[in-house]
Amino acid sequence: MRADFLLAAAAFASCVAARQVVIVVGGNITTDIGSVFTPQSATANAGDVVVFNFTQGNHTATQSTFASPCVPAHITDSTINGFDSAFRDTVNGSAVTQLTVPISDNTTTIWFFDFNTCSIGGVGGINVNSSSNQTLDGFVRNAERLNGTNDSTTSSLSSQSRSATPTSPTSAPSQTATSSANQAVVMGLYSVIPAFVVLLAASL
Ligand SMILES: *[C@@H]1O[C@H](CO)[C@@H](O)[C@H](O)[C@H]1NC(C)=O
Ligand SMILES: *[C@@H]1O[C@H](CO)[C@@H](O)[C@H](O)[C@H]1NC(C)=O
Ligand SMILES: *[C@@H]1O[C@H](CO)[C@@H](O)[C@H](O)[C@H]1NC(C)=O
Ligand SMILES: *[C@@H]1O[C@H](CO)[C@@H](O)[C@H](O)[C@H]1NC(C)=O
Ligand SMILES: *[C@@H]1O[C@H](CO)[C@@H](O)[C@H](O)[C@H]1NC(C)=O
Ligand SMILES: *[C@@H]1O[C@H](CO)[C@@H](O)[C@H](O)[C@H]1NC(C)=O
Ligand SMILES: *[C@@H]1O[C@H](CO)[C@@H](O)[C@H](O)[C@H]1NC(C)=O
Ligand SMILES: *[C@@H]1O[C@H](CO)[C@@H](O)[C@H](O)[C@H]1NC(C)=O
Ligand SMILES: *[C@@H]1O[C@H](CO)[C@@H](O)[C@H](O)[C@H]1NC(C)=O
Repeated sequence: MRADFLLAAAAFASCVAARQVVIVVGGNITTDIGSVFTPQSATANAGDVVVFNFTQGNHTATQSTFASPCVPAHITDSTINGFDSAFRDTVNGSAVTQLTVPISDNTTTIWFFDFNTCSIGGVGGINVNSSSNQTLDGFVRNAERLNGTNDSTTSSLSSQSRSATPTSPTSAPSQTATSSANQAVVMGLYSVIPAFVVLLAASL
């Protein structure tokens, strides 16, 4: 009984301690394309929640893979059910929304891109492994090499239009846009409470 209780309490405590790691989407990309995601490289532990905060412009945050930076992950690897915000138009900063992505494991790098700027380097990574040869710089180069058009940026941008339908996101509920980013953490709490109750009931 006591062990069960401590276990449940620990699960509860670790959930409360979940950190929010905020990545701002929509920096001023006039002079630095990398600023579409700020920071471009983020670190998050298992249990943390990464919050993409769409503050300016019209962008997506879409999970991809190192080898194909500008293609949604599930297309190149059907075993990855990657996140995809679809286009979030901030209407000149008046419609700020968030996409929350729960991190369940910090040993795998999560690569992502923005559909509208990927071809010119609008990409980023979560938990980039500093001892691996899969670097952020390499990821940026892959994006530019595979999707950049060297002759006309205009045609490259216009050929990128796509439907704004989101692909099936990973763990559903917390993936939706929320006006309050804290909601993701609250949802995390709710998902722990049933386990807490079950454990308590089992120990009675
Ligand atoms: C972005 O930066 C450029 C160059 O510094 C500046 O001219 C422009 O006004 C900025 N745009 C916004 C929306 O801040
Ligand atoms: C993963 O997170 C744990 C703590 O949860 C930390 O001790 C470890 O260093 C992290 N590993 C990496 C590769 O960031
Ligand atoms: C998102 O950006 C808006 C506008 O800058 C800010 O008010 C809000 O606190 C940010 N949300 C998070 C979770 O950082
Ligand atoms: C966006 O907001 C800025 C500052 O308020 C304003 O100058 C500009 O005209 C707005 N642009 C659009 C397209 O509404
Ligand atoms: C990048 O190029 C691939 C292959 O041509 C294409 O399938 C993908 O849609 C492109 N990505 C973007 C963001 O335009
Ligand atoms: C980081 O990359 C190195 C070299 O490829 C590898 O040995 C190590 O296991 C990786 N670390 C993680 C946490 O994946
Ligand atoms: C990157 O590292 C992997 C092993 O971790 C190796 O197989 C591959 O050849 C390396 N690629 C380059 C370009 O060094
Ligand atoms: C186009 O490609 C050439 C060489 O392939 C390179 O030197 C140049 O910087 C590229 N231009 C752009 C705008 O990417
Ligand atoms: C956002 O960008 C996409 C792709 O360029 C475009 O199809 C869509 O119409 C844009 N949304 C708005 C509201 O401009």
